[in-house]
Amino acid sequence: MRFFISGRIYDWLIEPIVKRIKQRVAFYFHKYDLFPALDICCGTGTQCHILGTKNPNIYGLDIDQTMVGYAAMKYPQRSFICADATEISFKDQSFKGVLISFSLHDKTSETRDEIMNEVQRLLSPEGNIVFVDFENPWNIRSKLGAIFSFLIERTAGGDHFRNNRQFLKQGGLRDFIKRHQLIEIERHNIELGTVAIVVTKFRD
Ligand SMILES: C[S@@+](CC[C@H](N)C(=O)[O-])C[C@H]1O[C@@H](n2cnc3c(N)ncnc32)[C@H](O)[C@@H]1O
Repeated sequence: MRFFISGRIYDWLIEPIVKRIKQRVAFYFHKYDLFPALDICCGTGTQCHILGTKNPNIYGLDIDQTMVGYAAMKYPQRSFICADATEISFKDQSFKGVLISFSLHDKTSETRDEIMNEVQRLLSPEGNIVFVDFENPWNIRSKLGAIFSFLIERTAGGDHFRNNRQFLKQGGLRDFIKRHQLIEIERHNIELGTVAIVVTKFRD
């Protein structure tokens, strides 16, 4: 019997905060018909589950065996893979949609770039990438949001926190998208989290 402590803590503490973000991500995946889809660094699998209720052609991938085990236990009808996002064993152009949600800021700059190389390989030419991640504050309300996000990230601590500071120093999600030659198609900013959901595509 496994207890999946880290997954349960994530579901208990973080999921209620990000619930509406996950619903909006699902809205974009259906609006742009981004299936088959891959959720890279899927964590506890909730987003895969939400996406899969309308279109089951969705795979979740995460490096943490415990997270993948927990996700598969909660959602046995969904497909989860335990793998490193810098080395994914799907064929080229396997997906029309890729999601990277809250999974750039916690990685080193090198790992982020390696993940993006894989995304470029896996995505079909008409495909889109949906990102959810932190931005630098852009107005008064988002400055309040930044304090809240800082406290949560501080609790995560260690490399996670250091990588997040570096991600924001480099310009957050907005600059990451620019540096990777991606075009923004649609953006939704969430002030009280200093977070953005952005639908993008690679330049032709
Ligand atoms: C902050 S969680 C994000 C979870 C989920 N995407 C969400 O929005 O709730 C980051 C996830 O990245 C995973 N991860 C870290 N390094 C990874 C790698 N190299 N390949 C795949 N997953 C990785 C962790 O195991 C963790 O579940």
